[in-house]
Amino acid sequence: MCGIVGILGTGPVAAQIVEALKRLEYRGYDSAGIATLEAGRLTRRRAEGKLRNLEIRLAEQPLGGAVGIGHTRWATHGKPTENNAHPHASDKLAVVHNGIIENFRELREELLAAGHQFVTQTDTEVVAHLVTHAMRGGLGPREAVAACLPRLRGAFALAFLFDGEDNLLIGARQGAPLAVGYGDGEMYIGSDALALAPFTDSITYLEDGDWVVLTRDSAQFHDAANNIVQRARQRSQASAFLIDKGNHRHFMAKEIHEQPEVVGRTLAHYLDMSQGRVALPFALPFEARALASITISACGTAYYAGLIAKYWFERFARLPVEIDVASEFRYREAPMRKDGLMIVVSQSGETADTLAGLRYAKDQGQHVLCVVNVLTSTIARESHVVAPTLAGPEIGVASTKAFTCQLSVLACLAIGFARARGTIDASREAELVSQLMALPGLMAEAIKREPATEQLAQFLSKARDVLYLGRGTSFPLALEGALKLKEISYIHAEGYAAGELKHGPIALIDEDMPVIVIAPFDPVFEKTVSNMQEVSARGGKIILIANEKAAHEGAIDAHAIIAMPDMAPDFAPIVYAVPAQLIAYHTAVHMGKDVDQPRNLAKSVTVE
Ligand code: G6P
Repeated sequence: MCGIVGILGTGPVAAQIVEALKRLEYRGYDSAGIATLEAGRLTRRRAEGKLRNLEIRLAEQPLGGAVGIGHTRWATHGKPTENNAHPHASDKLAVVHNGIIENFRELREELLAAGHQFVTQTDTEVVAHLVTHAMRGGLGPREAVAACLPRLRGAFALAFLFDGEDNLLIGARQGAPLAVGYGDGEMYIGSDALALAPFTDSITYLEDGDWVVLTRDSAQFHDAANNIVQRARQRSQASAFLIDKGNHRHFMAKEIHEQPEVVGRTLAHYLDMSQGRVALPFALPFEARALASITISACGTAYYAGLIAKYWFERFARLPVEIDVASEFRYREAPMRKDGLMIVVSQSGETADTLAGLRYAKDQGQHVLCVVNVLTSTIARESHVVAPTLAGPEIGVASTKAFTCQLSVLACLAIGFARARGTIDASREAELVSQLMALPGLMAEAIKREPATEQLAQFLSKARDVLYLGRGTSFPLALEGALKLKEISYIHAEGYAAGELKHGPIALIDEDMPVIVIAPFDPVFEKTVSNMQEVSARGGKIILIANEKAAHEGAIDAHAIIAMPDMAPDFAPIVYAVPAQLIAYHTAVHMGKDVDQPRNLAKSVTVE
């Protein structure tokens, strides 16, 4: 989840490394550091906190050198202090690392016994000492790295810089992504193509187990068995411009506002709008008609997208759907049916647990389809079918536009499968497709409700706990709404199926408890109204998100109503996500929180 970058440059590289790190900050931002060779000698600057602290440090104490590595951290082992910040170094080398070295304790014991002294609480430091030890034993940098890599267990990516070696960087990939970029007399290495986009669009991704030796004019790739291998170069689609916030205060605000456009773009990719039908932009390597079941696995917001889609696959395509968070699924040893389809959902395409779930399903003989936003990601490369979301880069840590794009893709798949299986006919397909086509406009309408969500910020910011309720597809959306609020405002929030209210959470309700009810006008609306009466009778403060007319007809005593446009209910979560996101956003902004980079979180979670 950390970001790593390395540059073999033709001039001073410190500023370029910082530029690349800015584009990697989504991966972690609790401390940062860089190391270069100044007059051939390793020199480091590191700082606790966000990258701007490192920039201040570099302004005070500039760092020269035409080769260097940099890192932005999301702490796994050891507090996010300057001392634990990467690069970690010895007299021989500096190393930056993303991921976890699972056997670091035993390696540390061994190295302590051999006389090495450890100065940090990180797992990374063992890598620095291990390679240093090999070099002290007489090996050169390449041989030392080659000898040490097989001793490291876990999922990680590494980049090494060596004292006195002005024309050398070494990178290694085992489970966490790493890309090499080719420049004009320069060479780059980084966690993703986005980081390298200001410098080059010519990229090679390391395969799992690969390590690479870089000089300014060569990249020599080795596989896990140490054979020299060729790896294809490709053109990266990553934008060279530093993605900016436009007129918005935060990336999250910008991304919420972009949703009508990106959902429209995504839907256009999957629909034949003139014919009113789903037209998948890829061939399926299986017959939808022959599918026995679907299993969905994902993490965080992507998991909630899957949970909503379960209702659609069951209702429209009449397919049984199993769904689980990937961290559970991967270890559950779930039996999987023959002719089953595994769908993994992931914005980044790098989430470690989701990737492990994918691999398990493949081993179990499942067809694997991924819904991903990053097409060059590991999950995309390992899946049989890639269903892209066209959300564009999502920078805010709290997922917004990726979520509604995931839902859009999953909705198209559910309708496409339903049609192929004969569980809906052409006219029902056309009706559902026209509902989908209306979504961007409805989302734009929903965004116009922003002032109403902003007005709630002060009230909600005083709450200690907030309950979100919904039924049907609004239940997973309630879970997502609660997740959004807790991620960025740090207010405790829980989502519940409205029907479960009386089985526990009703005990929490008093005059201080805001209860946000998501209730589009659907077949279970009346039942949700009954649940709201139960809340109201106990003094709970209801914030109702519902179609205006229905809300008033329901005669609900609400503290506030976010009146939504009229719409057919099938795909309501894609529209109702907007006020849920805006409520969380404005509450967090009102509380002065860092909405784009909330504490302790990271955008891409490549560790367990
Ligand atoms: C992290 C992010 C979430 C995201 C989850 C899954 O927790 O903060 O926003 O939903 O990972 O990420 P993925 O990239 O697999 O969708």
